[in-house]
Amino acid sequence: MAKVTIKGLTKIYGENTVVNRINLEIPNGMLVSILGPSGCGKTTTLRMIAGFEQPEEGEIYFDEERITDIGVNKRNIGMVFQSYALFPHMTVAQNIAYGLEQRKFSKEKIHEKVQAVLKLVHMEPYADRKPKQLSGGQQQRVALARALVIEPRVLLLDECLSALDKKLRVEMQAELRKILEETGVTTFFVTHDQEEAMTLSDYIVVMNNGLIEQIGTPFEVYERPKNQFVASFLGKANFFKKERHFDNGETDLAEIFAVRPEKITVSKEKNEKSLKVGKVDFITYSGNITTYAIEVEGSQVLAEIQNASANEEIVKGDMVHIGWEQGAQIPLEV
Ligand SMILES: Nc1ncnc2c1ncn2[C@@H]1O[C@H](COP(=O)(O)OP(=O)(O)OP(=O)(O)O)[C@@H](O)[C@H]1O
Ligand SMILES: [Mg+2]
Repeated sequence: MAKVTIKGLTKIYGENTVVNRINLEIPNGMLVSILGPSGCGKTTTLRMIAGFEQPEEGEIYFDEERITDIGVNKRNIGMVFQSYALFPHMTVAQNIAYGLEQRKFSKEKIHEKVQAVLKLVHMEPYADRKPKQLSGGQQQRVALARALVIEPRVLLLDECLSALDKKLRVEMQAELRKILEETGVTTFFVTHDQEEAMTLSDYIVVMNNGLIEQIGTPFEVYERPKNQFVASFLGKANFFKKERHFDNGETDLAEIFAVRPEKITVSKEKNEKSLKVGKVDFITYSGNITTYAIEVEGSQVLAEIQNASANEEIVKGDMVHIGWEQGAQIPLEV
């Protein structure tokens, strides 16, 4: 359990700077998700925190202790990767005990700690099974137990839930949140799944091309994304641009803002919210919401309308009025 501070951390492979002077300060006990497209440097960042990779530049601190040059084994880190690689020939209990044996705990102490962590992940009845006799979600819990049993200062989870089906994943997310609250361990969580990041995290770090685009609470990064990349990476967004026209005929981009699809209103009749007119290109019904793709001034605008009450009958090809509240406009960096 530690506060984690990262200063100017950089990793270079050949000519590629894959992590580019990133800075982070994560308070003790927080769960931070790292989100970003494939290849943006998420795993590399975790590997540097773990000590598997040496940074070309920069520092890592756990609390006030500089750990940049300390070996993997001395950092006291728990890790779970996507392929959680349990030892196939060992039972669940032996898998979990392994790290403790390495650390030369007594037999009694090991038994006690293994039992406690099995209880934490609800796997007590499975202690004597081999990994291949377990479901994916159960194996995943064992991997988590193995990482937690050493009482790590920092827990690193790299896409550890992505192999699970949607229902199990959602169950495991809730479970994980509970376990992390109980243990209070500072956790870095890498995922491709933005919904997972939103529901699990205290903070979200959005990375792109080795750089951090934005850090904030899920609310902040969704409601107040800084730029077009963050706005479109987390959820869907409509972009509206205002151009500036000069006397010499040139134009440039004066202003850009985003409006989330769920903030857009659609109606056949003009009303006090109406701002623009468009033609319905297509309509997608997905149970709880209906999505309207509307062609407005040459671009497509998406509007998501809740199906809580019967919506007005709008069909493909209709001309409609769209609008939004002033507060729904998110100003972005030009
Ligand atoms: N050992 C290595 N040698 C050279 N290049 C590497 C090495 N490891 C990673 N890279 C490159 O560094 C970049 C970042 O890789 P990284 O694994 O951190 O991406 P990621 O964000 O975890 O992506 P994904 O979501 O696909 O797992 C990629 O372009 C990758 O090809
Ligand atoms: Mg990765």
